[in-house]
Amino acid sequence: MKGNEEVVKLVNISKRYYLSSSVYVDALINVNLSIRRGEIAIVMGPSGSGKTTLMNIMGTLDKPTSGRVIIDGVDVTDADEKYLTRFRLERLGFVFQQYNLISQLTALENVMLPMLLTGRYTKDEAREKARLLLELVGIGEFANNRPSQLSGGQQQRVAIARALANDPSFIIMDEPRAP
Ligand SMILES: Nc1ncnc2c1ncn2[C@@H]1O[C@H](COP(=O)(O)OP(=O)(O)OP(=O)(O)O)[C@@H](O)[C@H]1O
Ligand SMILES: [Mg+2]
Repeated sequence: MKGNEEVVKLVNISKRYYLSSSVYVDALINVNLSIRRGEIAIVMGPSGSGKTTLMNIMGTLDKPTSGRVIIDGVDVTDADEKYLTRFRLERLGFVFQQYNLISQLTALENVMLPMLLTGRYTKDEAREKARLLLELVGIGEFANNRPSQLSGGQQQRVAIARALANDPSFIIMDEPRAP
């Protein structure tokens, strides 16, 4: 695989939120953005400037009002939710501010879950890869802890390991600071 492909391309993206039939907020106006494989892009701006809106659109969690969203060369702007659910599972990684770990599962099981959902890994393969990912982010020794038995920073690293589980094209992190 070449190293310089565009993994994200946003073309003239606008997002208008309607608060009522006549009151609206233009959260994004004609945004053009290209991110290539291996690049790290940081979005900075004041509260309310549209950062989360931008990331939700980039992550196919929300649709733009106008413009095109192209991920890995695939135009996903009009794709339906069923397609996008699979697309996100296989190609994107998310680390949310609240990490969204599953509290009943151990760190290891949280990281295994996206792999098992694809049907592409046996349980043993998923367990092995999850162990490696937890070691990679420096918390291999906490594999059997549940989220409530981990510090905020350790939970964050579980979330990062989980985001990497299916070798995504890119990872989206919205204010992923450790508490
Ligand atoms: N679901 C929504 N309905 C209506 N307006 C919204 C909605 N989501 C966001 N907005 C508005 O869109 C604008 C951009 O919001 P967004 O959450 O993208 O900002 P942000 O840059 O992530 O801010 P913060 O730094 O506070 O997280 C804001 O004016 C916000 O009020
Ligand atoms: Mg935000």
